[in-house]
Amino acid sequence: MAPFDGAQDRLCVGLTGGIGCGKSTVAGLFAEHGAGIIDTDAIAHRLTQPGGNAIAAIRAAFGDDYITAEGALDRTKMRGLIFSDAAAKQRLELILHPLILEQAKLQLHHLQDKPYIILAVPLLPESPAFRQLAQRVLVVDCDEHTQVSRVIGRSRMGEAEIRGIIAQQTPRAERLRIADDVIHNDAGLDSLAEQVTVLHVHYSAMQNKI
Ligand SMILES: Nc1ncnc2c1ncn2[C@@H]1O[C@H](COP(=O)(O)OP(=O)(O)OP(=O)(O)O)[C@@H](O)[C@H]1O
Ligand SMILES: [Mg+2]
Repeated sequence: MAPFDGAQDRLCVGLTGGIGCGKSTVAGLFAEHGAGIIDTDAIAHRLTQPGGNAIAAIRAAFGDDYITAEGALDRTKMRGLIFSDAAAKQRLELILHPLILEQAKLQLHHLQDKPYIILAVPLLPESPAFRQLAQRVLVVDCDEHTQVSRVIGRSRMGEAEIRGIIAQQTPRAERLRIADDVIHNDAGLDSLAEQVTVLHVHYSAMQNKI
């Protein structure tokens, strides 16, 4: 648990989980309860849209080939590169992560009127800087079979590609080891909503003790 640093007196819960485990769905359910939500995927998306703050650095590091005619990151091309090139993946992360962190801190500051804050970060297990922002870690977990079938249902990614991404992410057991709280997302959406409600009560009560 990281100490509160004065700039922030709201409970901040780091939400993480593997691809397709249900982070965005869970964040949406917490938002319905009135929690402040910081979505680092959305921040990354904005940074890499036309005119985004990461575009110049990405162009300098990877060349014009990775920027579309509209001036956005060419996501398909970049995904193809970093899937097979670990050094390139690291180069991209070195550009994006500090910018995402900066934006997340800014949003955290602006969300201090919320009862507590959910900070959704897929890379939380690997990222000490993000771990420092959160006082608790909430992992949304489901088995790999469920994970694969949900991602297939949502996108055009094939099973091999999804399994490749899962293999690159922090292993499930390791993720669960850093969890203070776990949401089990193998059943339906009703069960998910019930678990979020229980945690909402818990986090609200914790907030009141701070
Ligand atoms: N309990 C559930 N029952 C049925 N479908 C679900 C359930 N939880 C999530 N889903 C669906 O599974 C898919 C993946 O969920 P979601 O997008 O929330 O995961 P994620 O962890 O945010 O994924 P990513 O890592 O790609 O951001 C979505 O289509 C979502 O609607
Ligand atoms: Mg998501």
